[in-house]
Amino acid sequence: MTDLFADKASDWDTMPIPQAISQGVSQALLRNVALDETLEVMDFGAGTGLLAAALAPRVARIWAVDVSATMLDALAAKPELRGQVEPVCQDILAEPLKQQFDLIVSAMAMHHVADTEALLAQFAGHLKGGGRIALADLDQEDGSFHPPTIEGVFHPGFDRERLRGLLLAAGFVDIAFTTALEVSKEGTTYPIFLVTAELS
Ligand SMILES: C[S@@+](CC[C@H](N)C(=O)[O-])C[C@H]1O[C@@H](n2cnc3c(N)ncnc32)[C@H](O)[C@@H]1O
Repeated sequence: MTDLFADKASDWDTMPIPQAISQGVSQALLRNVALDETLEVMDFGAGTGLLAAALAPRVARIWAVDVSATMLDALAAKPELRGQVEPVCQDILAEPLKQQFDLIVSAMAMHHVADTEALLAQFAGHLKGGGRIALADLDQEDGSFHPPTIEGVFHPGFDRERLRGLLLAAGFVDIAFTTALEVSKEGTTYPIFLVTAELS
């Protein structure tokens, strides 16, 4: 699989939009999801670990799953995450992990996966009974958030009601959406949702 973030990894943490999004998503997640030091967490599409860094002090351990080796190299280079956040360079849709989690979190990665139903099925399969998800991504937009030539973007955000239906079909209950933050880019405002749910 081509590493589509190879040219972005070195600058990612200093870019204002990823910074604003990870801060807003982290804060929304901390407001909406009860965390404790027993939780084993997967961060799907963890990138350089911006979200994982905010959660790591509050949970047992985080497995930072990503298909970009360069993004995970940047994560692995952060001494403060060592021992608490484990980088895992694997496409879990093609090759699931042999492990289950209490919580799966994700920020801005779902729109990079073409088959949302297959992704949600993998999330369900990677959760212990009663496990939870907390997933953040763009609300449905007009396709202007990313440059038109960008590769690997399969969804111009997500319609909340359609995503709710896909989550129900994948076995999730107690589905709740909140707006984590709004990002402004070139005169347009893009809301970003956080959806939380539990595996029934
Ligand atoms: C927009 S970045 C977000 C990174 C990080 N979550 C953040 O908020 O800073 C999207 C990330 O999803 C990863 N990604 C894309 N497709 C993926 C897949 N199939 N499995 C795991 N990660 C994937 C990319 O490599 C990239 O690191």
